[in-house]
Amino acid sequence: MTEPTIAQRAPFPIEVEEGKNYFWCACGQSAKQPFCDGAHKGSSIAPVKYTAEATKKVYFCGCKQSASQPFCDGTHSRLPDE
Ligand code: FES
Ligand code: FES
Repeated sequence: MTEPTIAQRAPFPIEVEEGKNYFWCACGQSAKQPFCDGAHKGSSIAPVKYTAEATKKVYFCGCKQSASQPFCDGTHSRLPDE
């Protein structure tokens, strides 16, 4: 696996806590979306660490194609149909 797979074609809204670390799944294989569960092992893809700077709701990318990882940048709405 060198290319991520699409977990879902929409972001995951998540309440993050200030100061807490999150590991966003970049490969799309995790069963615990949008976070890494180790399923990327053996591939060239690694999770992206995010430290919340405030307690708030953020939108993690579900399609794994965002240019603003780990967050949704709207790219999911421009993906070709499967
Ligand atoms: Fe996807 Fe770890 S399971 S990056
Ligand atoms: Fe990936 Fe929106 S879910 S860019």
